[in-house]
Amino acid sequence: MRRTVIAGNWKMNMTPSQTKAFIKELSPMVKGRDKCDIVLCVPFVDIAVAAEAAEGTNIKIGAQNIHFKESGAYTGEISADMLKEAGAEYVVIGHSERRQYFGETDETVNLRVKAALAAGFKVILCLGEVKEQRLAGITDEVVSMQTKLDLAGVSEDQLSRVIIAYEPVWAIGTGLTATPEQADETCGVIRSVIGKIYSAKASEDIVIQYGGSMNDSNAAELLSKPNVDGGLIGGASLKTDKFTAIVKAAN
Ligand code: 13P
Repeated sequence: MRRTVIAGNWKMNMTPSQTKAFIKELSPMVKGRDKCDIVLCVPFVDIAVAAEAAEGTNIKIGAQNIHFKESGAYTGEISADMLKEAGAEYVVIGHSERRQYFGETDETVNLRVKAALAAGFKVILCLGEVKEQRLAGITDEVVSMQTKLDLAGVSEDQLSRVIIAYEPVWAIGTGLTATPEQADETCGVIRSVIGKIYSAKASEDIVIQYGGSMNDSNAAELLSKPNVDGGLIGGASLKTDKFTAIVKAAN
C-alpha cells in the first residue's frame, strides 16, 4: 500500500523565528497522525531551525530547491551537502514557480532530480499543465512528457525515493482547485506513464500528490481518490489549524 504524504510548501514565507514557533505549535496538533507522512518544505534559512524544532516529532523537513553541482561558482544556489547538514530530508524540485519565474526547464529539473537522488534525498518532483494547455486538451501529453524528461536517467531503485506532485498551474494560489475527478484522472495518467517507463510495480508504488489550492475543506474529497496519494499544499500550510485539518483528512 502507498503511503499518503501531506507536504507543505511554504514558498517564500516565514522567518527562522516564525518557523520555530510554527513547528512548536503544530507538533502537538499532528502528534499520532501516523497514517500519513508529514513534511514541511521551508526556505533555506529556516531548514536548520525547522529540523531542530521537529526533532522527535512526526514532522519531516524539506528544502525547495537544490543545485546539481557539488560546489563552486554558482552564486545564489545551494548544494546537496549544505541541505543535508542543515537537516533537510526532502527536496521540492521543478515547482511551476521555478519554471515560470526562474527559467527552470525539464533539462535543469532532471539534473537537479538526479543530483538530489544521488545524494540520498527524497524528491518531490512537481509538474503540471498551464491553463492554455488544459483548454487545448493536451494535459495528458504535457504531463506525460514532463514525467519522461524530468525522470530521464533515474533508476527504478531511485524512483522509490521520488514523489510526484501533480500541480495544475492554473490551480496554484488561485483558489481554483482541480475537481477530484480531474486530479484523479491526471494523476492516473502520470501513474500509467511510470508503468510504461519502469514497471507495473513501480506504477503501483509511486506516490502521486495533488497540489493547487488544496485546503481544509476540499482535502478529504481529493484524497479519497484512488490515484491521489497526498497533497502539496501552499497557502493552507502556513496556518497550523488548516494544515492540521488536511493531515486529519488523510488520517
Ligand atoms: P497553493 O496551495 O497556495 O495553491 O499552492 C500550491 C503549491 O504550489 C504547492 O507547491
